[in-house]
Parts: sequence; C-alpha cells; structure tokens
Amino acid sequence: MDTLFSGFSINDLFLKNRIVMSPMCQYSAREGMPNEWHKVHYASRAIGGAGLITIEMTAVSPEGRSTDKDLGLWSDKHIPKFEEIISLCKKNGAKVSVQISHAGRKAQNINIPISPSAIKFEGEMYNQPRELEIDDIKKIIDSYTQTAKRAVLAGADCIEIHGAHGYLIHQFHSRLTNKRNDKYGVIPWKFGTEVIQSVKNVIPKSMPLIMRISAIEYAVGGYDIEYVLKICEHYRNAGISIFSISSGGEGPFPTDYPGHHVPFSRVIKGNLRVPTIVAGVINSPDLADSIIRNNDADLIAIGRGMLRNPYWALDAAEILNQHIEVPDQYKRAFN
Ligand SMILES: Cc1cc2nc3c(=O)[nH]c(=O)nc-3n(C[C@H](O)[C@H](O)[C@H](O)COP(=O)(O)O)c2cc1C
Repeated sequence: MDTLFSGFSINDLFLKNRIVMSPMCQYSAREGMPNEWHKVHYASRAIGGAGLITIEMTAVSPEGRSTDKDLGLWSDKHIPKFEEIISLCKKNGAKVSVQISHAGRKAQNINIPISPSAIKFEGEMYNQPRELEIDDIKKIIDSYTQTAKRAVLAGADCIEIHGAHGYLIHQFHSRLTNKRNDKYGVIPWKFGTEVIQSVKNVIPKSMPLIMRISAIEYAVGGYDIEYVLKICEHYRNAGISIFSISSGGEGPFPTDYPGHHVPFSRVIKGNLRVPTIVAGVINSPDLADSIIRNNDADLIAIGRGMLRNPYWALDAAEILNQHIEVPDQYKRAFN
C-alpha cells in the first residue's frame, strides 16, 4: 500500500515522497524576474523535505500576469534566475515543476486585458477585457510553448499548466466567461488542448505534463465535476499525465475545510485512471497519509501549511513515524 512517504514514479520523474509544495504566488517579482526572496523561499521547502516543489504561477507574457509582481518567463533573460532556484532545490533533494500561466481577464495591471469573451471580472481592480481574435489565440499558445521550453532549459523536472482559478484556460472552459460562437466556444477544451499539444512538442517526451484544474465553479450557472471530467478526458488524451485538483476562481471562494477537494480527485482519478495531486487545507499529516492510503490521490499539495512551516515534510515524517532524509546540519533536531 502506498503511503505519504512512498516514492512516486511517472515516466522519467521520480519523487522521493508524495508531498508537493503547492504553487503560491509571492507577488514579489519585478518585471517577472525571480529574486533573493524566491531563492530562499523555494530552497527552504526543498531542505524541508518536499518531494516536488511547484514554482508559483509564472506568466507566459507580461500581459499574462495577474499583477505586475508575478513571476514571468517570457524572455531568455529570465532563464538564469529560474535556473539558480531550480538547481538549489535539486541540490537539496527536491524535484521542481514550474506552473505556467496567463491571467486573461484577471490581469489587474493591464488597461485592456484579453478573454475568450468581453466579460469583465467583478471587482474594481479589474478592467473591461476585449474578446480574443484568432491571431491573438495563436500567439498566446506560442507564448505558453516558448515559456515551457525556457522552463526546461532552466532545469525544470516537469511543467504544470495553470488551467484553474479563473485564469485564461479556465475562462475558455467556463460557460460564464466563454460565449464565443466559433470552435473555441463550441469546444471549450479546444484552447487548452492546443496549448497541451504545442507544449508537448518542446518538452522531453519522458517529461510529465501536469494540468491544474478547477473541478467545480461556485458561481450560479457554473459548471460541475461531470463537465470537468469530460474536459479532463480530452486533456489526458492530448498528453496530460497528472491532474492537480483545485476549484473555483470565477468568483468568491466559499469557506474551505480539510480535504474539500478529495471527492473531486477521486472522481477524476477513478474515471480517467490518471494520477492526481490534491490540495486544500490538508494540514494534518494523518489526513495526507490517509488520502494516499485510500488511493484518492497520488500526491498531496501543501500550500499555506508550508508557508507557516517550511519543514512540514520533516515534521510529518516524525509525526507518522516514517523515515525521511534529514539534512546533516539539522540531524540533532530530529530523532
Ligand atoms: C499566498 C497564496 C498564493 C497562491 N498562489 C497560487 C498560484 O500561484 N497558483 C495556484 O495554482 N494556486 C495558488 N494558490 C492556491 C494554493 O496553491 C492552494 O491550492 C491553496 O492555498 C489550498 O491549499 P492549502 O489549503 O494547503 O493552502 C495560492 C494560495 C496562497 C495562499
């Protein structure tokens, strides 16, 4: 039986345990460039024992940032700074994924953001978007592709495409934001599928491609898990090897509670026979371990728990009485 501390293998990727650092935007970059904060932040979680570190939402173009403090990898100039972080994490025993993203209508610092349809996101800090032309769509797909290529050059072990939380790919999925009459409207997974296919062409064949997905929407008229299951089936067939299960983003989030995404992970994993990552207030190591033992997910993403405690994984091993490699420098603090 797999546990939180079993290894995990897919294609060429091996993770020493099932603990993932969830992508968490630090809103601390200038011109998309990672800095000392990012270096210390990510390396600490690698030292802290996470099997996979996900580098936060990283914009595929300057206009694709949700704020002007987001990370970006839209030019070759960004590669060396990403390379430093990735190599530091790897030296400290973790594998690294980069979450690539375009905010679409949720780009706050853009005068005229873009979106599948010209429907504004609620809130004063958001501007009225314009509807994407076909030419724009092709360019944006290329920017995802070039960004993925740069992440690989920077040493990433895998790429996560951000298809959740009301950002651009999710805007194509949602009936609330995609009112197009062309193929990109009639087939809500067309844009995402083209992104996946194009990214697959530039990353190594053996490199797993992850997609983060909002399993349900909370707004009135939003989609449900059955709808997303169909989309995920197309994405799996196009080459997604792991789904990361989250929810919402099209409006306010309801109150969350421990393991609230687990039932959605069970549906996607069970029906599509694909590995899943699940996040959502999984602060207790016992809960994380039981989700893996019940085969409801393959990997557990820890977000705020790791902001509070970079050594979440080391502590979890002690609580669960499991073996984990502790850095020599810290051994005296652990049994
Ligand atoms: C400060 C912060 C920033 C976040 N930024 C991102 C992000 O860049 N990309 C993403 O997919 N999710 C983002 N999230 C969501 C987390 O990855 C995670 O799914 C969520 O916090 C639930 O997990 P938790 O209860 O363990 O925190 C963010 C969450 C927080 C708290």
